[in-house]
Amino acid sequence: MPAPSELETLAVEIAREAGELARRRRTEGVAIAATKSALADIVTEADREVEDLIRRRIAEARPDDGFLGEESGAERGASGITWVVDPIDGTVNYAYGIPVYAVSIAAVQGEPVAGEWEALAGAVLNPASGELFRASLGGGTWLGDVRVEVSEVTDAGALLGTGFGYDPATHAADLARVARVMPIARDVRRAGAAALDLAYVAAGKLDGYFERGLQPWDHAAGALLVTEAGGRVAVDDVDAIGRRLVVAAGPALFERLLAVASD
Ligand code: IPD
Ligand code: CA
Repeated sequence: MPAPSELETLAVEIAREAGELARRRRTEGVAIAATKSALADIVTEADREVEDLIRRRIAEARPDDGFLGEESGAERGASGITWVVDPIDGTVNYAYGIPVYAVSIAAVQGEPVAGEWEALAGAVLNPASGELFRASLGGGTWLGDVRVEVSEVTDAGALLGTGFGYDPATHAADLARVARVMPIARDVRRAGAAALDLAYVAAGKLDGYFERGLQPWDHAAGALLVTEAGGRVAVDDVDAIGRRLVVAAGPALFERLLAVASD
């Protein structure tokens, strides 16, 4: 088994190359390739091209590892390690030209199923801002060259991130969750990229984050960033229609946020 720090180095190297490709394609203009689970759920040509690049680079460097990607599906490996990848998290921002999107790459061990794996390394890069968040198991979380930690709570209430699913049928429940959370919030942000929301919790730029409906590639890297920064993450609650609730925060806020965000 490689050291988690080696996997982190590889994740960062591939995220940089992938991020550069995404940024370049963005400047050339974005083509919507298809809609997915709902009309609002889109995939661009760049999502596919960037995932192909990441998948190729991982296969070159670690041919025995498995892969689980948003756009090209899953492949089991023989090594016990699986790479969980979102080539462009925040695709709608990307398509609209909002510079809040990220390449998210995680290496996990064990069953490649959210809630069952152990994350070993992760990188989340916003190519538009240059923010690079990285972590490895036991190695802490870093934003660029600076080690970061989750925030402490203040009397002003928590600055919280959240998101909404693409399926309009889920919006009422998502909004009811926001209403339940508001009493403990100083304000709520909906930035549009879950991987970055989690990275911001890790770096203390948000006090907490909650969202129901995340996919494994949305949170695989970001959750490790949070725990290695001293925070806590819950991913176990899956509702009757398969929507997973993800809650992340520093230790002082976590239980309170989990209680109000759960339904
Ligand atoms: C989406 C973003 C968004 C979150 C959605 C995700 P995508 O990922 O992370 O912030 O609210 O739940 O599906 O589609 O941009 O990769
Ligand atoms: Ca995503």
